[in-house]
Amino acid sequence: MSANDPIQVDFAVVGCGIAGLRAAIALGEAGSVLVLAKDALTESATEYAQGGIAAALSDDDEVTLHEQDTLAAGDGLCNLEAVRVLVQEGPRYIQELIDWGTRFDRAGTRLAFTREGAHSRSRVLHAQGDSTGREISRALFARASAIRKIRFCPHAFTTELLCEEGRVVGLRFLDEASGTLRTVRARAVLLATGGLGQVYSETTNPEVATGDGMAIAYDAGAVLSDLEFVQFHPTALAVKGAPRFLLSEALRGEGGVLRNAVLERFMKRYHAAQELAPRDIVARAIVSEMQRTGTEFVYLDLTHLGSSFLRKRFPRIYETCLRYGLDIGEDLVPVRPAAHYAMGGVRTDLWGRTSLPGLYAAGETASTGVHGANRLASNSLLEGLVFGARAGQAMVEDVCSRKSSISKLAGSKHKTARANPVKGNPARHAAPEREPRFRKIQQILWRQVGIIRNGTDLEQAIATLRAMEIERPTAPSRAACELYNVWVLGQLIARCALARKESRGSHYRSDYPIRNDEEFARHSVVQRDREVGFA
Ligand code: SIN
Repeated sequence: MSANDPIQVDFAVVGCGIAGLRAAIALGEAGSVLVLAKDALTESATEYAQGGIAAALSDDDEVTLHEQDTLAAGDGLCNLEAVRVLVQEGPRYIQELIDWGTRFDRAGTRLAFTREGAHSRSRVLHAQGDSTGREISRALFARASAIRKIRFCPHAFTTELLCEEGRVVGLRFLDEASGTLRTVRARAVLLATGGLGQVYSETTNPEVATGDGMAIAYDAGAVLSDLEFVQFHPTALAVKGAPRFLLSEALRGEGGVLRNAVLERFMKRYHAAQELAPRDIVARAIVSEMQRTGTEFVYLDLTHLGSSFLRKRFPRIYETCLRYGLDIGEDLVPVRPAAHYAMGGVRTDLWGRTSLPGLYAAGETASTGVHGANRLASNSLLEGLVFGARAGQAMVEDVCSRKSSISKLAGSKHKTARANPVKGNPARHAAPEREPRFRKIQQILWRQVGIIRNGTDLEQAIATLRAMEIERPTAPSRAACELYNVWVLGQLIARCALARKESRGSHYRSDYPIRNDEEFARHSVVQRDREVGFA
């Protein structure tokens, strides 16, 4: 077999964060699986997830309370069925993670739960203090590596989906080692490439979060949904020259407070839950305080919690801030909001099925409607876990019902590996050199499609982006594809935000500041060559 021959597998999984890994484990029981990652295997948003994973597992909690909190945060736009799946199935999948060796933090022998914004109970599990995603990922890689039929292919950038007669039958990827384009033919393809935070100049997301899965699905003709809903995390580190490192909401859950430039604890003027109000409210309150006091940040005050507690409870955050000259037990920490999470994505049913036969999506790449207009803190790892497993299950069932036999992993000279991820870094990787057009897109999105939006800015943003006329790369390089992907998604976010003439959850329009259920209690939908609609 030559390097030009297609790689034949039963299932292709693009992305190896929590959703991709959990799906691969489900798929590996049934057929051959190839998991592609565009960077090192551990370089995903999961690896950097701090706060934790929410589930109604404590003695004073109930799934109905988790459901209510999720619906309230979603501001009238959650898909109730998806929420029920999440909160009801979540505990079972977390128990499975524990059985597979995930070491969540404990108080004595019992699981330790923390509180985060808009949760009515302490229900957020964490691991190694603030390295929850990394620990879950470690356990999932260990589990996956015991399954013979799962192979991993790092530094493989998926450039496009292959479609035949309206069905997705595989993909093309750029093999970074050889610089060649390779073809994978698969009976079903799962997109689990995470989010799109890199569309914005200010983001907590790792450099890999360029929305690739959403962009290639859009190019292939799939329906995308709810793209205007981008969550801005209130507290990213705001130090010149430092990345917008996430300062977990769990810091506020443990008692951290926000102060403005004159050291006033201002959140009491905005919401009864103060620092633990829903994220959109805290983020907008911070913007308003920054504007009022003419500053570029507010402070997160943790000094009353003490260095020794903070070092033990939040070791990764403590060490990272120390590297930027801040002892969070003694110094006020400058923070400001940054793009954090895409509630929208490739529209799916409750089993990860997209509008294109053969194509599935899960995790942040997908839009099940589970988060509505604003995700409840620490529901994202849970979503990846639950809906990743369900997508895997559906792919197996759908392929079997088409009576196409499941094969052995076909022989291929392409270099793949068993799961043996290298350890990730404690903080984000250093930013790659982005070309000027990439930076321009990020600035436009941040300034005109950011936390507070209006029709004039959105129209201008769309016009400027359109005028950039970035071509789909014909001789793809990863950088060229990422540039094209953020350009496509930047326009889609702006177009959906312009169409939604109301304010709801994370989408705030100063020209339409009121929620309008009569017209907009619906999901935006967008597809190639079509106008934005609502369904
Ligand atoms: C955080 O730790 O604040 C982030 C967790 C999340 O986004 O759910």
